Amino acid sequence: MAKPKTQYKCQNCDYVIAKWLGKCPSCDEWNSFIEDTPVAPTDGTTLADVREQFKSSRNQSENLSDGWVELTPPTTQEDGSPTPQKTLSRYSTGISELNRVLGGGLVTDGFTLLGGDPGIGKSTLLLQMAKGVCDQNPGIKVFYVSGEESIDQIRGRAHRLGIQGHGQIFLGAETQLEKVFASIQQLAPQIIVMDSLQTFSTAYVQSAQGSVSQVREVTARLMTLAKTAGIAICLVGHVTKEGNIAGPKTVEHMVDTVLYFEGEGGQSYRLLRTVKNRFGSTHELGVFEMVGEGLKEVTNPSSLFLSERTESIAGTSIAALLEGTRPLLVELQALVTPSGLAVPRRTSVGIDSARISLIAAILEKHMKLPLAEQDLFFNVAGGLKLNEPASDLAAAAAIWSSSQDKKLPLGSVFIGELGLTGEVRRVSQSDSRVEEAARQGFKTIVLPKSTPKALLERLNRDQQAKKIDLFLISRIEELKSLFSA
Ligand code: TYD
Ligand code: MG
Repeated sequence: MAKPKTQYKCQNCDYVIAKWLGKCPSCDEWNSFIEDTPVAPTDGTTLADVREQFKSSRNQSENLSDGWVELTPPTTQEDGSPTPQKTLSRYSTGISELNRVLGGGLVTDGFTLLGGDPGIGKSTLLLQMAKGVCDQNPGIKVFYVSGEESIDQIRGRAHRLGIQGHGQIFLGAETQLEKVFASIQQLAPQIIVMDSLQTFSTAYVQSAQGSVSQVREVTARLMTLAKTAGIAICLVGHVTKEGNIAGPKTVEHMVDTVLYFEGEGGQSYRLLRTVKNRFGSTHELGVFEMVGEGLKEVTNPSSLFLSERTESIAGTSIAALLEGTRPLLVELQALVTPSGLAVPRRTSVGIDSARISLIAAILEKHMKLPLAEQDLFFNVAGGLKLNEPASDLAAAAAIWSSSQDKKLPLGSVFIGELGLTGEVRRVSQSDSRVEEAARQGFKTIVLPKSTPKALLERLNRDQQAKKIDLFLISRIEELKSLFSA
């Protein structure tokens, strides 16, 4: 096959040259040329071949021969009720933590990108997903293509994870996209896992695998495949040192769903987050634990981030966060010690240090805490990262407790945002936070007085909430009287 000639295009003025130059002769811009090789036909199975094959069988309920359909009002059935709307069809993955993050399961023609550090468990997760999805959806086929591992390696891992296959899971080790398309044409799978994006290359682009133009083109082709052939595609993406998916940003724009799999070094739990989802809410959180038998779901994540104490310790408090729709209790720790430095230190892990400085300043001003000559260290237990102002009150309580060397009552949870004036402001979805605290056995909950009346009444009525004490405060100073007893 004659390979298309490489060419370079200026990103500033679209000037095209055959050899790379540092400076554009047309617009004088420096470092603006990127490889931009025109598309040429190939010998392998083309995307058009695959599309043609699936055209009649899947996803073609509308006649799109003209390229458009008219938007018409909803129709009614014979009995006058509205015709049910076509909803997204999904495959349950059999893993409830993964289903939640996906918005209810894998959309049948959805394109999902899974990013994460090396060794975090992306391949393991997708292999377990392949098993789960087959158990839940008899008759469907999953094609797991790896550009990183040999068939023996994938099979070995699958066997270690106790995955049998039962005629539904097929493995491939291939990096050439057109060869993968040929396999897809033969196998006709409903779900494809591709591990990983940076290892695949298409013959339509001449540059090396993993290059910007390859990554972009491979993604674009897979996207077209997902949408026109009605195949759900899960693509693994490498991340850069900064934690972004390697390659052009357009990759994340193209796909339907972007998930990140993350974990702290040395910790066995893993967090799966949605950062983009066309089919569900973002900022959902799934929690897993990596054990000898692969990834295990953690259905009660609060237990992971709370230490099992029988006695309270000065400098710790419990915050009720919301990760997506999911409430999560975490322990916050503060340490206030005399500083020998001219400018005392404010060090925080897991929470923005500007936020901690702000809370410290509020405490200094309104509670007269002498923090000006004290170092302040702050930590979120379990390596979790907080970015919700709803944890302000808990952070303030931990700092106050450490500085005064006063224990907060065991089993108390703090919910509320702090204003610079010292007021405690209400936060969203207090009810699910309170419910989670009650579920975890907490007996004392400190809430902003401005929490909506109807909600408070409901909390008081609620059988579960009756057994717990609700403390309502409107200003930060009230912390003191609350725990002086
Ligand atoms: P892997 O899925 O290969 O990570 P990625 O695809 O994101 O690079 O996971 C590899 C890590 O997981 C490896 O360090 C070992 C660990 N692991 C377990 O602890 N238990 C297991 O059952 C498996 C399969 C892996
Ligand atoms: Mg892997």
